[in-house]
Amino acid sequence: MSTRSVTATAPGKINVCLRVGPLRPDGYHDLATVFQAVSLVEEVTATESDGFSVEFSGPIDTAQLATDDSNLAIRAARAVAAAAGIDRGAALHIVKNVPIAGGMGGGSADAAATLVAVDALWETNLGIAKLTEIAASLGADVPFALHGGTAIGVDRGDELTAVPDSAEFHWVLVFAGEGLSTPDVFRELDRQRTAAGLAPESAPRPTVDPVLIDALQRGNPFDVARYLGNDLQPAAVALRPELLDVLEHGIAIGAVAGVVSGSGPTIALLAGSKNDAEQFASDFTDLGDTALAVVSAAPGAGIR
Ligand code: C5P
Repeated sequence: MSTRSVTATAPGKINVCLRVGPLRPDGYHDLATVFQAVSLVEEVTATESDGFSVEFSGPIDTAQLATDDSNLAIRAARAVAAAAGIDRGAALHIVKNVPIAGGMGGGSADAAATLVAVDALWETNLGIAKLTEIAASLGADVPFALHGGTAIGVDRGDELTAVPDSAEFHWVLVFAGEGLSTPDVFRELDRQRTAAGLAPESAPRPTVDPVLIDALQRGNPFDVARYLGNDLQPAAVALRPELLDVLEHGIAIGAVAGVVSGSGPTIALLAGSKNDAEQFASDFTDLGDTALAVVSAAPGAGIR
């Protein structure tokens, strides 16, 4: 008898706009962000097993990733079993395409795809509301990887409002060799704010400009470009000055605009067309960088 397995995918994300508000007593920052899922996905295959395990393949070097119970995908699988009150296990195989610690929510996408894969494997049918609740308990970006598309995120970034009918946009992602730690980047922002005389706890409440949402629905990249922005960018650039060179080179070769994605160091360059995106990706590749043309807004986690 063959062992049952289920494969699910979940997308990486970029933050088209990321506004960071006050540091809260729980150590998180209030955010207002617009996420878009991109066509670079993680693929998780869950196979019936007595216990829980995870292994990786794909283009990303995963040597540094934990494969014990601290791994977010294993925590996701265990959380589904606990919520459903069942005693089952799963062997997870993750084809990893989204860079680690890249600001694209790759670990969150692993967790989101795992939630969907094991829920189907075990036929637990928890439903999207329960899976979203579990997702939020795993990390601030996991609910978005589950839902995909375009969404406004507030609170820790995990209170989502879906934005319907986003047009299609073309981007070039330029990856860095080494990741950046999200807590380090938030800490650097707080340090910069303190140095500028602004107590991190007193930062203004963040908001998303409704004109950006309108521009995303209308589909003109030049309109969207005016509202691209990331409050974490100066912190990411302070920790990794060469990111500025990537942004400047992107504009020099014709990108409409560029922004650090999330806490970086991935740079998302907005292109005017699919052809442009492919050309820019090949220009960066010729320079020895790792770059990829992607499309937004991609769907959320689902069975493949
Ligand atoms: O929840 P997640 O694991 O994605 O967050 C990682 C870290 O990033 C947090 O522990 C916190 O230091 C920082 N963070 C934050 N404010 C947010 C999200 C993340 O300060 N809204």
